[in-house]
Amino acid sequence: MSHTTIPEPLETDQWFVDSPELSEFVATAKEIIASTSGDRAETLNALKPFFTALLNKQNWLPQNFARPNPDGGLGGGIGQWLLYRSQEPCLTTSRNSWRGFANASTLTIFSLVIPPNSITPIHDHLSWGLVGLYQGKQEETIYRRLDKGETEGFADLEIVGLHQVNRGKISHLLPPDGDIHSVKATTVFTPSISIHVMGNDTGSIWRNQYHPEQQSIKSFRSGYSNVP
Ligand SMILES: [Fe+2]
Repeated sequence: MSHTTIPEPLETDQWFVDSPELSEFVATAKEIIASTSGDRAETLNALKPFFTALLNKQNWLPQNFARPNPDGGLGGGIGQWLLYRSQEPCLTTSRNSWRGFANASTLTIFSLVIPPNSITPIHDHLSWGLVGLYQGKQEETIYRRLDKGETEGFADLEIVGLHQVNRGKISHLLPPDGDIHSVKATTVFTPSISIHVMGNDTGSIWRNQYHPEQQSIKSFRSGYSNVP
């Protein structure tokens, strides 16, 4: 007889914004994520209309989550504000299961607030996700990695897309497709704000920044502006 140990949930969902619009979206997103777990492209396509509806509703994002942060982990005064984070048990049995369990969040939603003319470092996310513009305008540069990641500290990138992004536009992240980018706010007076719907705890994990002119890569953790 085999025994399967089902771990206890680490903790309950964490809400940082009290908003019926966001709660409704999270409830729908959780159902979609569970029902499309075998195909994350399908997850993104199924989420998109509900995410569009959320982006089209204004005034649900509190002002405290719509402001830059001079001390933000991405530099440039960029604020990264955690709105919601789920903590689900991870049932993987691989030898790296402790890693999966330690980073078992399955849905994270945060706002990214970029001051006028500021630009993010070139970075990756290491998860499926949707990024939608809630306020302002952006210019997004998307990169693709040409090397296989076999040499530590080395990365060779090429640009595969340059997009002007207006309010309501949604980008798909499905690593490696679309996962490496930099984003610049092209508004003059007000910050640009994008909402991220991610399949990992993006602010907490170690991910990567890239410096194509030096063909270098280094790991970093962006953190969140409102959560230690
Ligand atoms: Fe990003």
